Amino acid sequence: MAILPIITAPDPRLKRTCRPVAAVDDEIRRMMDDMLETMYAAPGIGLAAPQVGVDLRVIVVDVAKEGSPPSPHCLANPEILWSSEDHALYNEGCLSLPEQFAEVERPAKVRVGYLDRDGKPRELEADGLLAVCIQHEMDHLEGVLFVDHVSRLKREMILKRLAKAKKRESESVPA
Ligand code: NI
Repeated sequence: MAILPIITAPDPRLKRTCRPVAAVDDEIRRMMDDMLETMYAAPGIGLAAPQVGVDLRVIVVDVAKEGSPPSPHCLANPEILWSSEDHALYNEGCLSLPEQFAEVERPAKVRVGYLDRDGKPRELEADGLLAVCIQHEMDHLEGVLFVDHVSRLKREMILKRLAKAKKRESESVPA
């Protein structure tokens, strides 16, 4: 397994619509494992393939609480089969927008169809943080970031803050 570099905004690779995987083969499985390792190391609770520069419809999530046993899910070609009419607000962050957060409203519950790590078709019903996380990661497959769900003013503020942080980082002299 390997820890992959995570792409941060703004970057055109985060704005692409990703392609479905033809089959979950060894190459895809290796990518899923690398994505999980990268996500745990970050640390984060979800990661989508475009965040590591791959334009394929693959996401990984694990919302297990700290101290609980890990509960990883690998989803290839995920599709929302049903979403609840009731919505919920959550203060979202993203490994591609480090240290930035905003409240995003999404359906509170979803049912998702996908191929698992063995290529088996599966369905998962999610609520709470898992529902938030799956919808957030699936957005990445359409080139959508959580800031695309908030007002233009808020989005510009966050992207400006991010650009400043990036500039500071690039100017700092390595010790
Ligand atoms: Ni994200």
